[in-house]
Amino acid sequence: MWIRNCWHVAAFADEVGAAILPRKFLNQAVVMWRAPDNSLVAMEDRCPHRLVPLSKGFLREGRLTCGYHGLAFDASGACVHAPGQTELPRVKAKTFPLVERDGLAWIWLGESDLADPALVPDVHWMKSPGWTVSRGYHHIKADYRLINDNLLDLSHETYVHKETIGNSAVADAPVVVVVEEGRVVRAHREMPNIDPPPFFAMLLNHTGKINRFQIAIHLPPGVNMTEAGVYKSDGRREDAFVIRVPHLITPETEHSAHYHWGVCRNFRHDDSELTEGIRKGTSHTFDEDKAMLEIQDAALRAEGMPDLPRAAIKVDVAPMRARKLLADFCRAETEDPRAVLRPAPLAYDDRVSWPPRG
Ligand code: FES
Ligand SMILES: [Fe+2]
Repeated sequence: MWIRNCWHVAAFADEVGAAILPRKFLNQAVVMWRAPDNSLVAMEDRCPHRLVPLSKGFLREGRLTCGYHGLAFDASGACVHAPGQTELPRVKAKTFPLVERDGLAWIWLGESDLADPALVPDVHWMKSPGWTVSRGYHHIKADYRLINDNLLDLSHETYVHKETIGNSAVADAPVVVVVEEGRVVRAHREMPNIDPPPFFAMLLNHTGKINRFQIAIHLPPGVNMTEAGVYKSDGRREDAFVIRVPHLITPETEHSAHYHWGVCRNFRHDDSELTEGIRKGTSHTFDEDKAMLEIQDAALRAEGMPDLPRAAIKVDVAPMRARKLLADFCRAETEDPRAVLRPAPLAYDDRVSWPPRG
């Protein structure tokens, strides 16, 4: 269940350079590189001559040469050289729009002429003054929808992430779920006067009681953000340490996905040890999700990938709303292949994005 007429994250922008970067999205094999004018190029990883992967070839002066018979293609996909003949064959390699925004490369796999860069979801926290980022990537062998489910139901922190961000306060806290503008799901938890899980004790440098809040935000098909804040229980909410964690999920196949993430913080900007500590801790935390999600995918696969849990409990509300939105958008695109999914804001500004607007 995929949406094509929208931007998906393909890579961190600085991963796309002068060397070929092959990757698969929505079962489409793509090769990416950066042209001499610094623009990004995404081309089908398939030579239009005899269909071997172009990633087996080589890049020189902004042209990709097929490693089999040496046809060369420019950034537009046009064949610009054919060995042993002056007349160029009428073949063109397929290309995809690829744009750079907020430190990420975003690809459009749907109808190319609809690829408006203004439709790239806003995750500016990944690269903007006032926010310091610890970032990483996980490859998850699971249906990407299970990753969305996981990120919208953070009660699992209590059980899966005991060593870093979870304790019993998370699963015990009630969740308020809203859907905004028919596109964005928000699931909000307040956890007043709790013991800090280890990760937050590290952030605050404090082991006494804290107040914690957490908002899981989701924009279909795979843009998620966790907004979390912590402050000492006798402190002021305005002084909370806030982190925004974009989790950018792009399907690779029906049972695998790319997961680019960044933990963006609004405090202790110059503390490079903290930046690395957050990166390590988060990477470990998401390793735990990866292990659980891959086991879950295998179990569900054996049952034909049912959409819904066998028994819906309270924590399923947000994931089920998101699944419903996704199904609606997929249906809209099936009925009209030129339907476009327009993003809505994940957060309103650099203040905490709760309560919802309006
Ligand atoms: S297969 Fe690429 S040039 Fe022949
Ligand atoms: Fe998790």
